[in-house]
Amino acid sequence: SSVLRSVKTLAKPAGARGYSSESVPDRKVAVLGAAGGIGQPLALLMKLNPLVSRLALYDIANTPGVAADVGHINTRSEVAGYMGNDQLGQALEDSDVVIIPAGVPRKPGMTRDDLFNINAGIVKDLCSAIAKYCPNAIVNMISNPVNSTVPIAAEVFKKAGTYNEKKLFGVTTLDVVRAKTFYAGKANVNVAEVNVPVVGGHAGITILPLFSQATPKANLADEDIKALTKRTQDGGTEVVEAKAGKGSATLSMAYAGAIFADACLKGLNGVPDVVECSFVQSTVTELPFFASKVRLGKNGVEEVLGLGPLSDFEQEGLEKLNPTFHIRKLFQILQFFRKC
Ligand code: NAD
Ligand code: LMR
Repeated sequence: SSVLRSVKTLAKPAGARGYSSESVPDRKVAVLGAAGGIGQPLALLMKLNPLVSRLALYDIANTPGVAADVGHINTRSEVAGYMGNDQLGQALEDSDVVIIPAGVPRKPGMTRDDLFNINAGIVKDLCSAIAKYCPNAIVNMISNPVNSTVPIAAEVFKKAGTYNEKKLFGVTTLDVVRAKTFYAGKANVNVAEVNVPVVGGHAGITILPLFSQATPKANLADEDIKALTKRTQDGGTEVVEAKAGKGSATLSMAYAGAIFADACLKGLNGVPDVVECSFVQSTVTELPFFASKVRLGKNGVEEVLGLGPLSDFEQEGLEKLNPTFHIRKLFQILQFFRKC
């Protein structure tokens, strides 16, 4: 992956890297929720990314320690820690990309929607600050439930007059990471070469991996595809249960978040053909937000790509996810904004 390539590149002397600070544009990345389970390893991975020149680590607690620790790593970016609402503006100012893993994670028995009440408020406040201090930044939303936090962010930005649908992304990369891992295991192919688009949303049956489009091709039985689909849809719950009350995916999420942020930075820097799946404003289906392949460019979303040919099983999955996704999300968001 590009993140791992970055790590390898960093091990070489500056001259041999092919990068110099002159040829790579300055880019500031802010992580909100940087002292958390995802935030800390994500801060580490962003510190290893040579495309980042300034790394701002914000949380309501514990950021000085995380920033001091990560800041000692001898890579390009300058690291600064910011703690508490008073320092949020400074953390955000001049940011090109803001990554948001702030908020509470699930415990066994909970759905992602059970996090709505707490996380919607956190996301709303953070997005109000983004609208004020870095209205042109690309936003990578990790906080759950992504199916709702992304539309909430859009509403906050619309209210502030700063909404740019090309710059708001729900991070669904972990679904892709899981689909790739599970497919490679079953198909017995080299995981490094695997590609699987995952479309829809980021909860249960709204997560729709398109294994019929997976490469390298493998002739898997229908039963295998069904099982792989179910495992991808329940991947988050698998981790929540294994962690038995100690939170949800953090390390794999940090990896996925770093891949997606790296893709956004590459797009901003004009690297051609950067394509990742993400939950964005969309006309691919009748749903206002939908995850599909997205081409990233200098302004964020350059093109939202279509679904491509679907198998009958995937078509059925698509039909099933629409009502669940749509009605629940709209209802919750309406209620939330009525209360504000
Ligand atoms: P965590 O509790 O370990 O960390 C969350 C951090 O957010 C904490 O450090 C906390 O202090 C901070 N925080 C709380 N309120 C804040 C605020 N107002 N401003 C800034 N920071 C604030 O949780 P985690 O395991 O890192 O998970 C974070 C979120 O990411 C959860 O909502 C979880 O469900 C979600 N998540 C999403 C995906 C995905 O695929 N999109 C994957 C895994 C987890
Ligand atoms: C995941 O997919 O791992 C995250 O959305 C966290 C969760 O609650 O499952």
